Amino acid sequence: MLRLSFRLFGLLTLLLLFVLYYVYHQFAPPYTVYDTLTQSELRESLALVEDRTPQKYVFFKQLQGAGFNNQVQEILLYHHLALLTSRVYVYQPLIWQPRRASLPLSAFLPGVTTGSISAAIFDRVCPPSEVKHVSINGENDGLWKHAKDVLEGPERCITVDDWILRWSFLSSSAMHPIWPSFRHYLSSHFKWSAYISDMTVRARPTAIEPYMALHLRRGDFEDHCRGLASTQTGFTTWATLPELGGAVFPPSLDPTNSTSVIEHCYPTLQRILDAVDSQARANPHISSLHVLHDGAWDHPTVYLQCYKLEAAVKSPERILRAGWVGPMKVVTHSGTLPVRRGESDWAVAVDVELAVKAQVFIGNGYSSLSSQIVALRLAKEGARTKDITLV
Ligand SMILES: *[C@@H]1O[C@H](CO)[C@@H](O)[C@H](O)[C@H]1NC(C)=O
Repeated sequence: MLRLSFRLFGLLTLLLLFVLYYVYHQFAPPYTVYDTLTQSELRESLALVEDRTPQKYVFFKQLQGAGFNNQVQEILLYHHLALLTSRVYVYQPLIWQPRRASLPLSAFLPGVTTGSISAAIFDRVCPPSEVKHVSINGENDGLWKHAKDVLEGPERCITVDDWILRWSFLSSSAMHPIWPSFRHYLSSHFKWSAYISDMTVRARPTAIEPYMALHLRRGDFEDHCRGLASTQTGFTTWATLPELGGAVFPPSLDPTNSTSVIEHCYPTLQRILDAVDSQARANPHISSLHVLHDGAWDHPTVYLQCYKLEAAVKSPERILRAGWVGPMKVVTHSGTLPVRRGESDWAVAVDVELAVKAQVFIGNGYSSLSSQIVALRLAKEGARTKDITLV
């Protein structure tokens, strides 16, 4: 009896090890890909520096370990600022919070790393004694112009010691004058890596049919929204663009009214469904929906809400009452992306790209992810603001 249970124990342990090994391999990051990319980043940076033409460089103080999209957002703005002022952007790795790892930026944003140099060789190009440290601060209005003036200076190597792109700046109307040039920057320089593009092709809800994308921002947002209501804060970054005024799902946002802030920042499922219904009536040919959400083990109720949304857009009776043809035939979401072995780090970018490619996008104006999606959509040829709804 005792011997049998020992044998059983041994078998179970073996089985558990197999399962763990399988799970690890399924979700393990692509270390060899990252190593290769880090090497080629170094090679390309050195080649760029050895090219005889004299260059000027800028190294910015950047976010360390904020969310993926917050880092992407500021990396794009800094790269844009460097190009505007004819400086080579010194790029830093992406900080991957879940594993506290530094990932090569070219695995995500090759449009930024091309023609830029890696921070790993910055000291070699710009020895500390030759670097001018500058601080750029002041009121939100005029900050960008001030930064441009400083970076247009004659110094070969500049390190900006202030964190220029602070939250209050990003949510202010001081961003609006940047939009025309940033839009141009996005359409000429923005590119996801081939890993992300390939996954996106595979992940499209249906291969050819137009689809709708919906960003369900939940997770930790409820507390965040209460804070924003008490500080009377409006939408963030590009969601504040005047040209998007018509995209805001009524009633319009009044930041001084805390009920209104919560209504837009943490909308009820009913309100979200109303927005979906409205776009579905306007676009009767759409029959699939992709939901971007932040459901995770620490936010399990998000899955329930996603499930309720799916049931609602697939219910023929409800849709008849809501006045559209439908129902949605295919509903996919962040949890159903076809992520293959070693691809999980790219899933969040695939979600963004799916929302950029969607015929219609319904997002949250308080979310930086939604606003980034909106910017990428508007930078595309033939973009229409009526295909965007901010709940
Ligand atoms: C505040 O916003 C809510 C939700 O939009 C609205 O019902 C209410 O009338 C607003 N209150 C005031 C004083 O405008």
